[in-house]
Amino acid sequence: MLLTLIAVLASAWPAAAAASQPPSGTCQRRCGDVDIPYPFGIARGCYLYTGENDVTFGLTCNLTADGTYRPFCFEVEVLGVSVARGQARVRNEINPWCYNATSRSMDGGSSMWTDFSDSSFMLSDEDNRFTVVGCNSLAYVSSKDASQFATGSTYMTGCMATCPGAGRLENGSCSGMGCCQAAIPRGINSYDVVFEEKFNTTAIANFSRCSYAVLVEAAWFDFRTTYVTAGDFMASTGGKVPLVLDWVVGKVTCREAMRNTTAYACVSSSSVCVDSRIQVRLP
Ligand SMILES: *[C@@H]1O[C@H](CO)[C@@H](O)[C@H](O)[C@H]1NC(C)=O
Ligand SMILES: *[C@@H]1O[C@H](CO)[C@@H](O)[C@H](O)[C@H]1NC(C)=O
Ligand SMILES: *[C@@H]1O[C@H](CO)[C@@H](O)[C@H](O)[C@H]1NC(C)=O
Ligand SMILES: *[C@@H]1O[C@H](CO)[C@@H](O)[C@H](O)[C@H]1NC(C)=O
Ligand SMILES: *[C@@H]1O[C@H](CO)[C@@H](O)[C@H](O)[C@H]1NC(C)=O
Ligand SMILES: *[C@@H]1O[C@H](CO)[C@@H](O)[C@H](O)[C@H]1NC(C)=O
Repeated sequence: MLLTLIAVLASAWPAAAAASQPPSGTCQRRCGDVDIPYPFGIARGCYLYTGENDVTFGLTCNLTADGTYRPFCFEVEVLGVSVARGQARVRNEINPWCYNATSRSMDGGSSMWTDFSDSSFMLSDEDNRFTVVGCNSLAYVSSKDASQFATGSTYMTGCMATCPGAGRLENGSCSGMGCCQAAIPRGINSYDVVFEEKFNTTAIANFSRCSYAVLVEAAWFDFRTTYVTAGDFMASTGGKVPLVLDWVVGKVTCREAMRNTTAYACVSSSSVCVDSRIQVRLP
């Protein structure tokens, strides 16, 4: 399954003039329950315009199937924006991997690719954890070309969730039994999820038919034993969970840049740090 969350084609950064124009006072600053502070915005002239095809900060306010309005960046739902932290929370798809009773094996492709590499975002290594839910389930998160470790720019990490018995599963505990978590490297903006296929899960399929792997906001995630025993991780979340993105400033995240005011023009608490060449003043 190929999953491209954001395929933004930003190449050239614009002149700082684009950023210094204050957005019009008539801009819509709320979509449903979500506040949309600058540099994000909904209409042209209301968000930080960073290049012809770059709509990193340009959102749409869509009427969704449940009758509510919600902000999207292409197909990615934006749950919230924090200007002070230089972060956005988006909804990220859970990758399921399920036992097929007919074929007596695990179903489907076991590799899922998620890519923010052409946007102004990085995956927050501080706030997110790669999380695997299931029984006898080993999953990896890696760069796409993890088979070519020679380049030195690749990474691969992961963890294994085991289930010795239902009695040992505990709500709120993600430390190996039915649930495990791994930290991700700093500074990545795309990842591949791969399930290890060598485990024969026929014997545990009646107890736990599906395994799940997802990069998720650690503070939000709260393991429920029923995610394994009743398979309701997808049902209880709608198949999507929060993921925290950091705005990128040059090659580091905005928050890192703000710590070093010598190198970046992100001095004032009323400025938004977006790129080393652009300083945005909040209206
Ligand atoms: C939201 O609306 C925009 C503009 O109509 C559209 O391009 C986009 O695909 C929609 N997103 C979703 C998730 O429906
Ligand atoms: C399960 O396996 C059978 C036989 O290989 C296949 O026909 C069927 O489509 C599979 N089910 C799913 C949900 O993929
Ligand atoms: C864990 O919490 C869920 C409700 O979220 C409950 O149904 C389940 O029985 C709990 N599991 C244990 C082992 O207490
Ligand atoms: C998996 O184990 C079951 C017995 O638990 C066996 O019937 C089946 O053939 C095994 N499948 C594979 C692919 O080895
Ligand atoms: C799983 O359940 C099915 C139907 O209830 C049963 O036929 C099968 O033997 C069970 N498999 C195992 C490994 O317990
Ligand atoms: C801040 O940036 C300057 C210039 O790039 C660099 O020399 C300095 O080591 C940085 N300080 C920290 C704490 O990263």
